[in-house]
Amino acid sequence: MARMMVVALMVVALAVVGGARAQLREGFYEQSCPRAEQIVKHYVQQHIPHAPSVAATLLRTHFHDCFVRGCDASVLLNATGGNEAEKDAAPNQTLRGFAFIDRVKALVEAECPGVVSCADILALAARDSVVVIVISKPPLFFNCLLLTAHRHGRSSISPRNYLTPNKKLRRMMNDEMQGGPSWSVPTGRRDGTVSIKQEALDQIPAPTMNFTQLLQSFHNKSLELADLVWLSGAHTIGIGHCDSFTERLYNFTGRGGPGDADPSLDPVYAANLRRNKCKTATDNTTIVEMDPGSFLTFDLSYYRGVLKRRGLFQSDAALITDAAAKADILSVVNAPPEVFFQVFARSMVRMGNIQVKTGHEGEIRKHCALVN
Ligand code: HEM
Repeated sequence: MARMMVVALMVVALAVVGGARAQLREGFYEQSCPRAEQIVKHYVQQHIPHAPSVAATLLRTHFHDCFVRGCDASVLLNATGGNEAEKDAAPNQTLRGFAFIDRVKALVEAECPGVVSCADILALAARDSVVVIVISKPPLFFNCLLLTAHRHGRSSISPRNYLTPNKKLRRMMNDEMQGGPSWSVPTGRRDGTVSIKQEALDQIPAPTMNFTQLLQSFHNKSLELADLVWLSGAHTIGIGHCDSFTERLYNFTGRGGPGDADPSLDPVYAANLRRNKCKTATDNTTIVEMDPGSFLTFDLSYYRGVLKRRGLFQSDAALITDAAAKADILSVVNAPPEVFFQVFARSMVRMGNIQVKTGHEGEIRKHCALVN
């Protein structure tokens, strides 16, 4: 009897703890601000086609936000009273798009003051802008193919289980498949009130990290190996500055000079980068497409580049130093792009959930750069 009582108490205690932890949910603003998500999407659809490179920076900003204090828009806060904020940390100094978010927030505030968090606006804008970077036009037969795969239960998470179309079909799909993936963005995040430069330096993974370090950094945020592999696929869009990888070109061991390149980087590609892009070891202004030739298109060519040892950062190259990660990449490049979109989407949802503040935690900022 006493034992049953203990079990019953434990069940109640668990229910209370579980219940106290509010969850994000889709359509969180349905009652409080029904047009919120529409306003974000509309603004994005109007502006991203004219400035498609902003999509990449919004996606990266969302990532940098989630990795420090959870997805609470702490990355958007300005320094106060001499305390440097996350924004001031080196990895965040190449983020752009803060004004973009401010403009969206102003529109949402005009509709429903003090209701919609900056953290949610950032998560929604990142998703919506990736969707619209290029117009999506999947061919009809491609949809049929996916349907067939679904029926056979093979279009789920592991691309290794996916049916492999023949080469010709694959090429046709790649040619016609444009636009980015979409993912669900459950909302209800609250904004943080604290932003500390050092935390961004400590917690945002560096481009010089090896596989073990990257995996540890993701594990620290309750993400797994698969999330590391698929979220790195975001590097299919956007640019990097030379100083994020010049060591790989000029000074890999510390000896220095063009002979001291990273042996894991394709030497032809390295020579090309030295000749045409990062001409000196100190260049910190030139930008390089991370996925040359299709840096505005969400496609598989980033992974193809990594397999050819043409990933720009050591962190990209590191992905094929682990057998499981490499096997995942090999299977995804041999599947329709839609498979990558699915696994990427799943990992984005997981990333968007990191340490979120809900319920009465944090606040709803009036202006994304300032605590109320
Ligand atoms: C796995 C660890 C990662 C490392 C070490 C890393 C590192 C970097 C670096 C160094 C840059 C270039 C910054 C510059 O020089 O301007 C960059 C760009 C970018 N990263 Fe990552 N990243 C990682 C993961 C991610 C994730 C998880 C996402 C999103 C889901 C992401 C999205 C992007 C995007 C879209 C850009 C291009 C930004 C632009 O065009 O302005 N990265 N990343």
